[in-house]
Order: sequence, then C-alpha cells, then structure tokens
Amino acid sequence: MSTPYLPHNPSLKQSRLRQLFEMAPKDAINLGLGQPGEDTPGFIREAAERILSSKPLGYTLNAGILPLREKLAAELADQGVTPDRICVTAGVQEALYALFYAILDAKSEILLPNPGFFTYASLADLCKAPHRGYDLSKEDNFRFNADLAIAAIRPETTAILVAHPSNPSGSNASREELQKLVEYCKNRPEGPIWIVSDEVYYGMSYTESASLAEFIAEYPYIVLLRGASKSHHMTGWRLGWAVLPKELAKPYIAVHQYVTTCVSSVTQFTFNEIRGSKEEAQWLVAQKSMYKRKRDMVFEALNGIRPLYGGEGAFYWLVELTAVDLNGGSDDDWVVRTLMEDKIMTTPGSIFGSNTDGMIRISYGPTFDVLADGLTRLKQILQPGA
Ligand SMILES: Cc1ncc(COP(=O)(O)O)c(C=O)c1O
Repeated sequence: MSTPYLPHNPSLKQSRLRQLFEMAPKDAINLGLGQPGEDTPGFIREAAERILSSKPLGYTLNAGILPLREKLAAELADQGVTPDRICVTAGVQEALYALFYAILDAKSEILLPNPGFFTYASLADLCKAPHRGYDLSKEDNFRFNADLAIAAIRPETTAILVAHPSNPSGSNASREELQKLVEYCKNRPEGPIWIVSDEVYYGMSYTESASLAEFIAEYPYIVLLRGASKSHHMTGWRLGWAVLPKELAKPYIAVHQYVTTCVSSVTQFTFNEIRGSKEEAQWLVAQKSMYKRKRDMVFEALNGIRPLYGGEGAFYWLVELTAVDLNGGSDDDWVVRTLMEDKIMTTPGSIFGSNTDGMIRISYGPTFDVLADGLTRLKQILQPGA
C-alpha cells in the first residue's frame, strides 16, 4: 500500500540535541541536556498533593487561572502590567510558538541571536516566517550587544528576540545594552518592532544582570516570556507565562487556546500556591548558591585546558575545541565520538549557530556527583596523560 500524502517539511525533524540524547549509551554521563539534575523540590510536590485532593481539576480559563495571573501581574505592577495581559502557557516553548504564530508570517522577519536556542529558527520555519541571525561575539563573552543587534535590523524586520541568561553560553545582558536597543526601537524611522525577551532562566544569574521587564512601561511592544522549568526544577510540569502588550493579548490567547486549551490545572494551582511563599524564596536563594558552586566547579576543572566562554548564568559553559581535538571533523563529530567511545554527552556548539562552530556546550544542571564524574572524564579526554 502506498503512503497517504505527506508534505516534505524539512523543519519537522527532531532536534540534533534530542537525536544525540536518544542515541546515548545507557551508562553515558549526561552533560548535554539543559535540565536540572535535582528533581522538583518537596515543598512543590506537597502543594500538588494538597491540590489533588482539594481542587476542581477541569479545564481552566484559556489564559490561566485568575489568581495566578494576578500574582504574576503584581510582580510587574510598577510597569503597569495587568492580569489580562498575562497568558499561562505550557512552558516557554509553547509561549514561543503561540507568539511566533501570532506575530509572524511570510512577510515579516524575526532576528534571532547567533548563538541562540535552536528551536527559535525551527519555530519561525513552522510559521513560514523568514529569520536571520544577529551576532553575539566571542570577544565579548557572547553577551547581548545592542550595536550588533541594531546593525542587523532592516526595514522588513518586525521582531527581534533577546535571550538571557543565554542558552548556550549562559551570558547575561547589561541594563545599558538593553536600554540602547529600546531607545533605538522607540525612535526607529520605519516604526516600532516587537522585542521578544526569552527569560526562561530568569533569576539564575551569578554576575550582574538586567531584564527587559524594566522597560515595559517605556516601550509597550516588549513581550516577556518566563517560566518555572529551570528556576523551579519543573521541566515536566510544563509551566511558562507570557507578559503581553495590550494589542497582542487577545490574538495571542486565541492561538494558545487552539494549541493547548489551557495548561494542566494541577500545575497551575500548585504554582499559584507556592508562588511568593517564604519557602519558595528560601529555596531559590539556596538554588542560586548551588548553581554558583557548580559553575565554579566547571571553571576550576577546565580553565587553562581549553578556552571557556559564558558561565554568567543559567547552567551553561561553552568550551572551545582545538584543531587537534577536531582532527579535521566538526564539533558534532567530536560529540558523537566522545558519546559513543567515552560515554560522555555534551552538545555541539554548531547547533546553536555559526558563531559557536568548533565549540561544545556543557550543562552543569546535573547533580554534583554526575557533574564531578563528567568533568573528570572530560579532563582525561582533553588532556590525556596529564
Ligand atoms: C532559551 C530557552 N528558551 C525556552 C526553553 C523552553 O523551556 P520550557 O518550555 O521548558 O519552559 C528552553 C529550554 O531548554 C531554553 O533553553
């Protein structure tokens, strides 16, 4: 029997990161996936147990339960954000999809950071929207640089995405650079463009950092995307939220409705219960110092062996490989070889853009034990006989 019609859509391939994850030997050490090694903490699980036995768990409003949206809006009250401008989403991934679908089409171009999270380009492809990269430079530790971003903006550009702390580098953005971008967009001769701020790692900065949230009142076309996956170790719960410009709220929530209906009610009620609590605040402080120690562990293990970049936030460092490491091949070849032969998984830099060709990304999300084993193995590979 022949197959029914199947359109050939090259953007519908599984990501390289997921392919590597699925080919990994069972006993491989995983410093590849961007996921916290410690699971969801007890105080969140306990809240979920209480919710399961006390709350109605049917559909919620498409945009999310009102008490949660009220809390999230109150956090940005100084910027004039109201609950009707918040949409609770199935992680930042769905928040990005709903946004791209709402603001992009074949005639509108979005600028994406190079290097940046690889799903941005695929999501733009899914929306049949043109996309181009703007540079983050190695010499500036891959930090957001407004001049480089502005230089890439053309008359047909309708949106620019800024992401920090960044995946894959972990670098932060400074207030001055963000302000420069906002100033430019306010005064752009062809009119304003959307500024999309992916802040899924918000709060996970170990050096000075800023947020585009500080500019929402000044420039009303900022879309802020935040979530609980990384900061609260809730990757599998699927919780994110979009803070939307007034004009965008209705069309955005409509896309979200047709894609997801609503986020799991258990997830929403649970997060609402713990959000803003003393336990949450204490836990977040402890987490930050834990990640800072892990970040320093990577630095102490690999500094002086290979050049390191980023390392300012999230849980990532970039490591530059040498021509001898690459042996005429690519960073992807190196990652596959060390995965299959040495049983250590890292992520090829090239999947995040051309500016990280020849590099690997290390995630220090895993537990201290896994990270220590992984770093020992990496040192043996990069510095044999030392
Ligand atoms: C930069 C960035 N944005 C968005 C996401 C999506 O996160 P989630 O959908 O779990 O909130 C990730 C996940 O790795 C990420 O690294």
